[in-house]
Amino acid sequence: MTCLAGMMVAASGVPSRVVLTDGNALSVAASGVPSRVVLTDGNALSVSNVNTALQHNTLPVQPSTRVLRWGVEEEVAPYRDKVDVAMCADCLFFDEGRESLVRTLVSVLRVGGKALVVAPARSGTFHSFATLCRPYFTVSMVTEYDRVVHQHVNKCSRDPHYSENLHFPLLMILHKLNNNNNNNHNN
Ligand SMILES: C[S@@+](CC[C@H](N)C(=O)[O-])C[C@H]1O[C@@H](n2cnc3c(N)ncnc32)[C@H](O)[C@@H]1O
Repeated sequence: MTCLAGMMVAASGVPSRVVLTDGNALSVAASGVPSRVVLTDGNALSVSNVNTALQHNTLPVQPSTRVLRWGVEEEVAPYRDKVDVAMCADCLFFDEGRESLVRTLVSVLRVGGKALVVAPARSGTFHSFATLCRPYFTVSMVTEYDRVVHQHVNKCSRDPHYSENLHFPLLMILHKLNNNNNNNHNN
């Protein structure tokens, strides 16, 4: 379900600002000023589905929604340097999308802002994305980030249909650097 992670953030906390890019990437501000959550996807139908989900759920923070295609200047520009935390789930397997997703994250995150990117290894695509990120971010990868997920994965690993490559969600934490690469970024 697109934007589910963003809805969960809006449902479970009082983020001061949240922007979700890709239908999936989301950001949360750490300062305590008025709440803002934006859930985005590049696909208008996905955004429409998110709107329906929002109509059926009363959340402490009411997110807004928007079509945002990675790398499309006029859609990215309103968020330039405004996002404190971006979240992105299962978005790294589009071979044609990784570079524009990196550019979008560089563009929307403020310096020092961070992105939480969750995705399976998917035949090297997770690590290819990390390589693209290194000029702009400090990159950390975490495999054990949640006790419940870890226990579930241990259980699943005995299932013959389970494939770590496809099913195990790795976590990448990106911190935007204050360097020349980022000072010169476009979208
Ligand atoms: C596998 S889905 C992930 C869904 C979501 N993370 C979730 O938790 O349900 C990948 C999403 O990436 C979006 N996407 C693919 N290419 C995109 C692009 N260039 N710009 C923005 N969104 C894109 C698709 O529309 C799709 O909703």
